[in-house]
Amino acid sequence: MSKPLSLVLVLFALLFALVGAMPLDLSARDVFVPKILYPHAGTVWKAGNHHNVTWDTSDAPVNITNTQGMVVFAKNGLMFTNQTGGLDDPLASGFSILLGRIEIQVPEVAPGDDYQVVLFGDSGNFSPKFTITN
Ligand SMILES: *[C@@H]1O[C@H](CO)[C@@H](O)[C@H](O)[C@H]1NC(C)=O
Ligand SMILES: *[C@@H]1O[C@H](CO)[C@@H](O)[C@H](O)[C@H]1NC(C)=O
Ligand SMILES: *[C@@H]1O[C@H](CO)[C@@H](O)[C@H](O)[C@H]1NC(C)=O
Repeated sequence: MSKPLSLVLVLFALLFALVGAMPLDLSARDVFVPKILYPHAGTVWKAGNHHNVTWDTSDAPVNITNTQGMVVFAKNGLMFTNQTGGLDDPLASGFSILLGRIEIQVPEVAPGDDYQVVLFGDSGNFSPKFTITN
């Protein structure tokens, strides 16, 4: 199992733990792991600007386990935990994962070419690495 994926699973388990006794009746429910379309490799975003993160909803199952989406950022494969846009301060949350897009404001982070957007629905899905400039 790749390191980012296991990290995601741990964080996802943590989310469930935080939410508490969520009913885990997964019968007739399907996991939906949407593929992020934008940002993609080669995307350059400027800190502070607004952009739409977009993802593919064409293969969404009829009954998905969790329709609530959340977007956070990652740098060098690690999700932020204590910066603007971190897990404690998601860039966007509580939107429907079936929307296919959500507008976010790029956090004021150091410039770099190893940033990723992480979209949570049923599971976490990393975008390709892209660039943030100041
Ligand atoms: C979706 O859920 C409904 C109600 O729980 C159920 O009747 C239906 O068979 C499910 N459909 C699929 C494709 O799982
Ligand atoms: C994001 O998408 C919405 C809906 O299509 C649109 O109204 C909005 O202008 C877009 N935002 C940006 C920054 O492109
Ligand atoms: C986050 O980092 C800043 C700067 O290092 C620090 O001042 C702050 O206490 C940290 N916050 C948390 C919740 O750890």
